[in-house]
Parts: sequence; structure tokens; C-alpha cells
Amino acid sequence: MRFFLVSMLIKVLDHPLAAHALTHLRDKTTKPATFRALCNHVSIMLALEATRDLATKEVAVETPLESSTGHILARSLVVVPILRAGLGMVEPIATLFPDVSIGYIGLERDHATALPRSYYCKLPPLENTRVLLVDPMLATGGSAVQALDVIKACGGTEVFMLNVVASPQGVRLVETAHPDVPIITGALDRDLNSKKYILPGLGDFGDRLYGT
Ligand code: PRP
Ligand code: URA
Repeated sequence: MRFFLVSMLIKVLDHPLAAHALTHLRDKTTKPATFRALCNHVSIMLALEATRDLATKEVAVETPLESSTGHILARSLVVVPILRAGLGMVEPIATLFPDVSIGYIGLERDHATALPRSYYCKLPPLENTRVLLVDPMLATGGSAVQALDVIKACGGTEVFMLNVVASPQGVRLVETAHPDVPIITGALDRDLNSKKYILPGLGDFGDRLYGT
């Protein structure tokens, strides 16, 4: 039996709807259209959890009946998907936060070595923002660490990592390289197989999302 020390900063979704969506995402018979819808549901729950403590500021508001005060978000939000699979998490988050800015980091794991190769990067200004780095799968953690390195080099200081499924190994690598980054995940799975796929996992997320 193997034991892994996992981060104090990891939060696993604890909601019946998340468990329901995760189970159908794992099911190998789930078709791409349903898979995309379920990915949307989990992404919304992850984003709500990652923004629970966002700062707000008090503003005056005129209701149809009288003057009142309310609160609006005080800090800009940036969402950065790791291409390609992370793209599936952007639209639901942008629906929740219409003013969000979106950056892109293109990384692809080499099939033989499982090491990430960078092929694209375009980020908006990151200073004084909360950055949500989104990638459905945190496997070895190599892609996440490389993306976090880039985000911090570009000025990101308050960064959250959102995953649909994480492995203990991936969490440990992110925690070691970026101990300040909270990880919000739909599930923390058991292990990686010899090809560095998450077990029990749900297979190749990008392939299942796009039907490739
Ligand atoms: C998958 C996944 C992550 C990465 C995780 O992407 O979406 O980006 O693997 O693995 P790691 O933690 O071991 O780095 P993949 O490289 O398969 O590319 P894709 O999104 O284009 O399918
Ligand atoms: N990427 C995936 O899509 N799935 C895994 O299990 C690991 C990496």
C-alpha cells in the first residue's frame, strides 16, 4: 500500500451534484455531449469554491423602492485554461463571471515521457487579479507546475488551481513547487498507471470532451 502526503491547501468538492457528475464523467459509455455538460456543472462548482473568499466592496444601489447598499467584486478575475482540455472549463466560468479576462497556455504531454511541451501562451495583465488556472486533469503535475511558473513569471500572485480530477502525485508536485497555490478539485483519485493516467480517473479528458 502506498501513502501520499497531500496538501493542506487542497479542497475536494463535497456536494451530491459533484459526486453525480463525476460518476457520469468516469463512465466510459458517456457520450461527448453529455460529457461536456457534466464538465460545465463541475467547473461551476469549482469556480464557486475558488471564489468563495473574493474581496467585495460596498456600493450604493437604487432599488425601484429606495436607496440601499450592496457589494460588488473588488478584484478582477482571470481564468487561464491549459489547452486543450482546460478550454472545456472556460465557458461556464465566464458565464458566472462575465467580466473575467481569459488567458491561454498551450501544453501537451509527450506520449512517451508524459513531460509537457509548451506550444502557446497568451496572458492578459495579471497584477492585482485572482487567477484561476483550469485544467481538468492533474496527473503527474508537470503541466500544472509549468503553467504556474509562467503565470507567476507574468505577474500572477494570487493563483488557484482548479481540476476535475487530481492524483496524489500531482497534488504533491504542485504543493512542493507552489505551496501558496490552493488546489480545488472534484475528486482526489488513488494513483497513476504506468502511462501516467489517473486511476480510477476517467481516461483522456481532451479526447472524451472533443470526441477525438
Ligand atoms: C492532459 C491534461 C493536462 C495534462 C495533465 O493534457 O489536460 O493538461 O494532461 O497531465 P500531467 O499532470 O501529467 O502534466 P494533454 O497533454 O493530454 O493534452 P490535451 O489537453 O491537448 O489533450
Ligand atoms: N490526462 C488525461 O486526460 N487523463 C489522465 O488520466 C492523465 C492525463
